[in-house]
Amino acid sequence: MCGIIGIVGESPVQDRLIESLKRLEYRGYDSAGIAGCVDGQVERRRAKGKIRALEEVLASEPLNAKVGIGHTRWATHGAPSETNAHPHKAGRVTLVHNGIIENYAELRDSLTRRGRTFESETDTEVIAHLLDCELEKKPPIEAMKATLDQLTGAYAIGVLIEGEDALVMGARRGSPLVVGYGDGEMFIGSDALAVGPFTNRIAYLDEGDFVAIDHKTARIFDETGQPVQRPVRTVAASAALVEKGNYRHFMEKEIHDQPDACQHTLSAYIDPTTGKVQAPGGVDLAAFDRIQIVACGTASYAGSIARYLFERLAGLPCDVEVASEFRYRQPAVSPKTLAIAVSQSGETADTLAALRWCKQQGLTTAAVVNVHESTMAREADVLFPTHAGPEIGVASTKAFTSQVAALMALAVAAAAARGRIDAMEEKRLSKLLLEAPRLLADAAQLEDEIRALAPELAKARDVLYLGRGALFPLALEGALKLKEISYIHAEGYAAGELKHGPIALIDEATPVIVIAPSDPLFEKTVSNMSEVAARGGPIILITDTEGAKNAPANARVIVGPTCDPFLHPLVYAPPIQLLAYYVAVQKGADVDQPRNLAKSVTVE
Ligand code: G6P
Repeated sequence: MCGIIGIVGESPVQDRLIESLKRLEYRGYDSAGIAGCVDGQVERRRAKGKIRALEEVLASEPLNAKVGIGHTRWATHGAPSETNAHPHKAGRVTLVHNGIIENYAELRDSLTRRGRTFESETDTEVIAHLLDCELEKKPPIEAMKATLDQLTGAYAIGVLIEGEDALVMGARRGSPLVVGYGDGEMFIGSDALAVGPFTNRIAYLDEGDFVAIDHKTARIFDETGQPVQRPVRTVAASAALVEKGNYRHFMEKEIHDQPDACQHTLSAYIDPTTGKVQAPGGVDLAAFDRIQIVACGTASYAGSIARYLFERLAGLPCDVEVASEFRYRQPAVSPKTLAIAVSQSGETADTLAALRWCKQQGLTTAAVVNVHESTMAREADVLFPTHAGPEIGVASTKAFTSQVAALMALAVAAAAARGRIDAMEEKRLSKLLLEAPRLLADAAQLEDEIRALAPELAKARDVLYLGRGALFPLALEGALKLKEISYIHAEGYAAGELKHGPIALIDEATPVIVIAPSDPLFEKTVSNMSEVAARGGPIILITDTEGAKNAPANARVIVGPTCDPFLHPLVYAPPIQLLAYYVAVQKGADVDQPRNLAKSVTVE
């Protein structure tokens, strides 16, 4: 997760840009840079490595600017280097960026044909060139809108334009961006913490918004280019790291954090330039003949989704078991098994014990963990990180999708290492994975439609969730989310299993939530929905445009993003999370701290 800061100041900004970047160090980075307007020209200073290295550059070449932008880069397109470090420059434009531009290769080709040359391997540089081209024809606001219209992906950006000495522009889609209101000075930042040292008056941009700040004002526009107002709030700077932003609960914020969390996580596994997918830590995935996943709760459902992919893509037998059973069962394990513990906290007692047991058996152990200093991260032979950032809501959301994203990437890596897919297929799958952040942002946009279902659902005593294939574990996760925070009894079932028992529960008062975007098994799920409909059960179908065409007549249909079925278990997570969230809100439950539950369970 790259960090962004922008300042239109009354006094020199160099030291403040650096101060802000230091606050953003927690996001992880491998190079840093700043740029500022000096006598009508934009100058930049960049360095590979830590901010200390950038400070050394600045000690010999200070940047005497009152308007500037800064960036900490977590490498995605192109290795960490000074050339790939932000800000990037093209003509009059200097720009910093967080996120992924999915169509950068096409854009780069077309810009190259128009005579543009590139100095870095980044996707970011194409945005700078596009904006510079637009500025030849249009003033800054229109040029920004025209540029954003050409981008596909999830991103936040900050921009300086030569000749516009008191202007910083920003935009967001998928990745957050805030506007900070100072006294005769204005700021943009990738989160409240970035602008925390300078102001506590903050507005959060909405999806698709872009902004132009000068010394006193922020002109905000929505994605259609219409001027809009976003509420300015006062936040406690000290709490900014764990601030709820415009959201009512951490859980809601964390649902919307998912594009960023996934993107950051995937960048630890995928090289977007080559399309290669690799397990971190130099693990040779071809050296194993079996995978054993151990986890608890939500993390175990992430593992269950992965099982489908390890077996289907990589031909690698994969078992998944809840750690509390596995640790006492004396399971028979083959020596060439890779044991993977999946855990947000890295401290869950049962998962840790299962991991230690595997280690004692002489197995290679890995930990898919979000807290990288945790016991599991330290004790496992190798860390497969998720980069979801701190998750505060007890009900896991962004940690879950980050686990799914990491495990999906590992399944692709295993398939490639074992020769089950060729380089082209590896590239295709990695490209698909890099589309996930944008699709997650699109899926979270279903919020209003889902909220509308909550009053009715909140009256239910029991709710069933159905899914097939890798969406079956997502049905289990949907049911768990609802149970955890709304206290409504819910069960997840494999759709084909309905007729073997749970169908006896169906009546007018038992809603059935079916997670079924169109895929090769969709027709079979349609039959299962007919079984429910015939017994008067109310159906909520969460599907895509194609699936909606075949929805049963009486179903309430939520239409999510259309994407390759490979991505379904990831992209269709936000709708089920939002459904649980709004039902709990409707019931007036304590969403972030549900009764009887703990975020990290360090007892048996
Ligand atoms: C607790 C939490 C769950 C979580 C589970 C595993 O039960 O309430 O949300 O899924 O622990 O936690 P972990 O940190 O190991 O992922």
